[in-house]
Amino acid sequence: MTDASGSCLLRAADLHLSFGPARALAAASFTLRAGEIVAVVGPSGSGKSTLLHCLSGMVVPDEGEVWFHGSPVHTMSEHERSVLRRTRFGVLFQFGQLVAELTAEENVALPLLLAGSRRRSALRAAAEQLDAVGIGDLARRRPTEMSGGEAQRAALARALVTEPEVLFADEPTGALDSAAGASVLRLIEGAATRHGTGVVLVTHDQDVARVAHRRVAMADGRSTVDA
Ligand SMILES: Nc1ncnc2c1ncn2[C@@H]1O[C@H](COP(=O)(O)OP(=O)(O)O)[C@@H](O)[C@H]1O
Ligand SMILES: [Mg+2]
Repeated sequence: MTDASGSCLLRAADLHLSFGPARALAAASFTLRAGEIVAVVGPSGSGKSTLLHCLSGMVVPDEGEVWFHGSPVHTMSEHERSVLRRTRFGVLFQFGQLVAELTAEENVALPLLLAGSRRRSALRAAAEQLDAVGIGDLARRRPTEMSGGEAQRAALARALVTEPEVLFADEPTGALDSAAGASVLRLIEGAATRHGTGVVLVTHDQDVARVAHRRVAMADGRSTVDA
């Protein structure tokens, strides 16, 4: 089977997923093109995070298909999906989830080290990425020595250091004040505009969703697309 939608970076059709009796996804669909920011909006519990988990290959749906370029993510092995996430995807969560024992620079270098880069070149790339998100001077700080906004920028730097084709961001500004949130959103927009990164932006905040090119609205596990 091949993917009919040639220009799509990521495409999902008719996803269903239940956790026991609880239906998290009940017919959710999604498309994303290069350089496009698509907001996934909807109330708490509507299936936004579960959709992101299926799209990024963290979770396999019970039914339905997820395609990345021409490759079926839903039939990949666990190992293939983890390689895909490590090499082609970047992920940013609400609480950056930096490793507390490591400096900002070491945190950002981690994905490169896991991919086999040498320590020196990984740290150099990490320093450049921290510069790009405006916190180059904090490279040697640990997460507890940074503000929430600074730590989230470091987490974004870690998500972008491998130059991913898709950035998955789940409520990336949810824990930040409005100024710090706005700066993280600007950086995400910059990744889409300058590097053609496709962005899946999960948010329950209509203001955040405004930066997106399109919205997918979730309600009770179902998606509806509006312009
Ligand atoms: N791992 C899980 N185990 C059991 N239920 C889950 C799990 N993940 C999500 N759910 C349920 O699926 C529904 C959708 O959850 P979620 O995708 O996290 O919603 P949202 O991100 O929109 O708040 C909710 O009812 C939630 O309780
Ligand atoms: Mg969620």
